[in-house]
Formats: sequence, C-alpha cells, structure tokens
Amino acid sequence: MAGASVQETYGLDVLVIGAGGAGLRAAIEARTEGANTGIVCKSLLGKAHTVMAEGGIAASMGNVYPEDNWQVHFRDTMRGGKMLNHWRMAQIHAQEAPARVEELEEWGALFDRTVDGRILQRDFGGHRYARLAHVGDRTGLEMIRTLQHRAISLDIEVFMECTVVALLLDDGHIAGAVAYWRDSGRFVVFRAKTVILATGGIGKAYRVTSNSWEYTGDGHALALWAGAELIDMEFVQFHPTAMVWPLSVRGILVTEGVRGDGGVLRNRDGRRFMFDYIPPVFAAETAETEEEADRWYLDRSSARRTPDLLPRDEVARAITSEVKAGRGSPHGGVFLDIASRHDAAYIRRRLPSMYQQFKELADVDITAGPMEVGPTCHYVMGGARVDPDTAATTVPGLYAAGEVAGGMHGANRLGGNSLGDLLVFGRRAGLSAAEHARRLPSLPALDQAQVDANVAAALAPFERAGRENPYSIQSDLQQTMQDLVGIVRTGEELGRAIEEIAALRQRAAAVAVVGNRHYNPGWHLALDLRNMLLVAECVALAALERQESRGGHTRDDFPKPDAFWATVNLVLRETGGEIVANQQPLPPMPPDLAALLEEGN
Ligand code: FUM
Repeated sequence: MAGASVQETYGLDVLVIGAGGAGLRAAIEARTEGANTGIVCKSLLGKAHTVMAEGGIAASMGNVYPEDNWQVHFRDTMRGGKMLNHWRMAQIHAQEAPARVEELEEWGALFDRTVDGRILQRDFGGHRYARLAHVGDRTGLEMIRTLQHRAISLDIEVFMECTVVALLLDDGHIAGAVAYWRDSGRFVVFRAKTVILATGGIGKAYRVTSNSWEYTGDGHALALWAGAELIDMEFVQFHPTAMVWPLSVRGILVTEGVRGDGGVLRNRDGRRFMFDYIPPVFAAETAETEEEADRWYLDRSSARRTPDLLPRDEVARAITSEVKAGRGSPHGGVFLDIASRHDAAYIRRRLPSMYQQFKELADVDITAGPMEVGPTCHYVMGGARVDPDTAATTVPGLYAAGEVAGGMHGANRLGGNSLGDLLVFGRRAGLSAAEHARRLPSLPALDQAQVDANVAAALAPFERAGRENPYSIQSDLQQTMQDLVGIVRTGEELGRAIEEIAALRQRAAAVAVVGNRHYNPGWHLALDLRNMLLVAECVALAALERQESRGGHTRDDFPKPDAFWATVNLVLRETGGEIVANQQPLPPMPPDLAALLEEGN
C-alpha cells in the first residue's frame, strides 16, 4: 500500500525546505548559480517567522554613526552570545550583512530614510551603535515581500502547503525528501542532489511563544534523523516583550523597536527597574541613572546606553524577577511605556503595527498609555552544526541556514542579528549547495524501501485504534516545556521534564487519528509531534548537562557562568533512538579577532 501511494516525483539540483528569509535567499542564490531549484514550504508562501523580526536588520552600515564598523558588530555579537558563538560565523555575518542589506534595497525593499536619503538605522539591545536598517516595525515583512518577488521572477518552483516528513539518503549522501500535500494528504518524493534546511525554529514546543503553528522543530529533527549534529540546543531565547493580555493573544511579539525608539520598562510602582539589573560585564557602557540614560537617548551627550536595551536574556530575566517579587502588572507582566516619551504622531509613524496590534487586540492606545508586556519563546539559538563558510552540515549534500542552523548566536542572539543571519548564511548555503550539485553527475539513487518505510510510519496513526489525541499531547508538552525548561531551570526540573517527555513520547506512539487524509489537521499535528518531542528532549538534555548559567540558559542551581563551560559547546547526535550529548571545545579564535573583544571594555 505504502509504495503505491507515492505517484508524484520531482528531480532537483537543490531542494530548499522552508520559505522564510533564509530559504528564499538560499533559493535565489542557488538559482542564480544555474541550479534547478525548488522550495517546499509547509504554509502559504510569505507566511514566515521572519516577519516577526519587526524592528530591523543589524548591519554596520554606519549611516547614523559613521564610527560603526564590522569589528564593533562582531564584538557586540560575541558578547551578546556570551562568547559561545562560532567566531567565524559571527565574523562573516558582521562583514557581509551591509552588502546583503544594500542588495535587498536593489531588489526593491523600501527602507526608512535618514534626512539625507540613506537607509535609516535604529537602536536595539546589545548593539553599541544604532545599526538596524528598518521599515517602520515591519522589516521582516518587507524582507519577505522583496525576496519572494525576486524568487518568483527567477522561476524558482514553489511547492506550497507541503510538509516534509523525512530526508532520503543514498549511502550516507543526501538524496531528497518525502513529503505530503496538506490538502490532499498525498505523498510526494523530491529527489535532489542537495537539500538546504531553512525551516526556522521550535517555538511551538512552548506554551507562550511568538511562533505560529509551523514552527515545530521540523528541520532540527530531520537533520538529527539524517545523521547530522545539533549544537547549543540548551539556549532558547525568550524575547522580553510580548503581549500578555488578553490571554488569547499572550505571546504575540512587541518589537524591541519600541525600546529602540525610546520606550522604557517600568514595574507596578512606576520604577524603571532595569537600572537594578545591570550585569558587571555591561556596567562600563550602561547608564546608571535615568538622567544619564535619557541624555544618551536624546542627544547622546552621554556615551552610556540605557539598560532597557541590554541584551534580551538580561531583560527577560529582569522582568521575570520583578513579576516573581510581586512588582508586576495586573496580568503578570510589566509596563512598557512609549506614550510618555513621544508624541502620538511619532509613535504612529515609527511603530504602526504596534499601534494597530494593541488597539485591535487589546483595546489599548499605546500613544496614550503603557503596554503590558512579558517574555515569550521567540527563537532557538541551537541548531544543525554547520561549516561556517559553506553552511554544510556533517551529512554530505545537506546544508542548513537561518534559525535551524546553530553556532552563529552562541548562548544568546542579539535582536536584529537574525535577519542579517538569514541573508548572509542563506546566500552562502545556496551558493555551496549549487556548487556541490554541479559536481554530481546525476541524481543520487532513490531507495524505494526508505520511501515506503517513511510513508508507512506517517500513515500509522490512521491504523491505530487507541484514544490518544495529538492535541492533548502537544498541550501537555507545551506546559512541561514552559514550566520546567523555561527562562529559569533547575536540575531537578530538567530531570522531571526528561521523564515527562519520555512518557509523552510513549503516548504519541499510540496516537490515533480519525477521518481521511484530505486536509486533516489532527493527522498533521500527529506528524509534527514527532519533531516537537525530539527537539524538546534535545533542549532538556542539553540544559541538564550544562551546569552553569549563561545567556538563554539560566540554572537556579548553578546561578553563575562557569569557567569550564565557557570553553565548550554541547553537540548532540542521535544513535539508535538515543540522543547523546558531547562536549566540544570552542574553535580557537585568531588573535586579531580575540583582541577586538578586549577593546572598549
Ligand atoms: O523585536 C523584534 O523586532 C524582533 C527582532 C528579532 O528577533 O531580531
């Protein structure tokens, strides 16, 4: 039955899985290199988490601060990532991001402008200078619009509403993928010389998240099952500011651009509490008083930045502490105030989406009063371990770019660095995959047994008679991750999470779905659950292993950074159904780059 159910097959040089910024940029490059390229995406084209990077693209163009340069951006990125980033990725990113922004402009992106007509750049957390090229608070959307237009004009084939369930291998080399159409439930085989994973993140494993339904860790799981390695999975980013009320919209992002444009955080007592949470490493460059912070914001007569714009891990932890101490807002967040800082016209011009979002979803006028905000699971720093220059994983023919790739951001990503990452490493992945495909004389062999086994596994939920349903398992998983593997963790909680995930996996193996294969969301979720459970286990295992606090990984039982853990990344592999974690020493940094990290401290 299974073999007969696949009638549709395509052959490609480069198959890109995912159509967010990284996937589109990779496909554009591969196609421009002459590769026969296709993009498969789970959702409709254009619906990508990239649009949730609202505030801008970090690139040291120096349009607002001429003293900005790639070296300072490199230093900021490494310090934000608590030095666990792969130095070469951070270097390439800082060096290439400006060219990628300019290229986006050539392709039609309409950025906000300085008075003399250059691309305007705004402040963001952890960046020494205002360096985020932006389009109001809709930068990700403009990026997707531009890349999509470019991709379509290059005749790249797009397979929409199609979900990949497995990668195919030919003697250890990538050979393609098996997928199903979400509307008909029919299976399709993509034979391919190379595959680029660009599937984004894992946010849907958490209860409160800025991610939408697509982000179930698919690429992370596909990479592991194909034999690739994951790195830094313990580091999950909780963006400090999301809506907390009404409950139905809890987790929806409130861009860091609000603070970049002068918004400040206050607790229930009106206190600007971030002044109480300045860590020693940022003390020299952070204002100590409101007056000084405001001088920095208004006329830069102070060189020291406001603590409202400390890196995200610091701000998310501070908000959590304020709420725990009983100084939060009525609905369990804190207040974000821009109304008292700017006039209404300015706010509506700079932050049109935020204005509309709060008005429509919460009946709050952000030009007249504060927003209630709290942390939301936004991004995973961990992902497939890749070669920094080529984006190649350890599986020949398999590449990864964007959020599904690890290494670039270390223990914590700076806001705005994801859009740069997507462009820089998306392009490199497309280039490398096209080059690799050129070297192969023909498509790798198709192993029908692999296809059949994957189709049979995907159809198994229809054959079962049990009563387990995927929605309740996903809900239980989200609660476990939120409660036990969240912003602050302990060894005891992580151990419990691992046990609970194992129990959920057993339940998932008994999931039964009703109905047929035609647009059946219960079945789709049953398949996504396999990925979510696997990545959840990876996060919890790595978090248990790392006995220290660093960036997006805070252990209450090991509250400080530790000198040993500053020297290693955790690398995960799947062998015989088990996830194994290994410590891997950080790659040695060249002395000239290491010297940059000392400057300005
Ligand atoms: O806050 C934001 O606009 C998000 C940006 C990002 O995640 O890079």
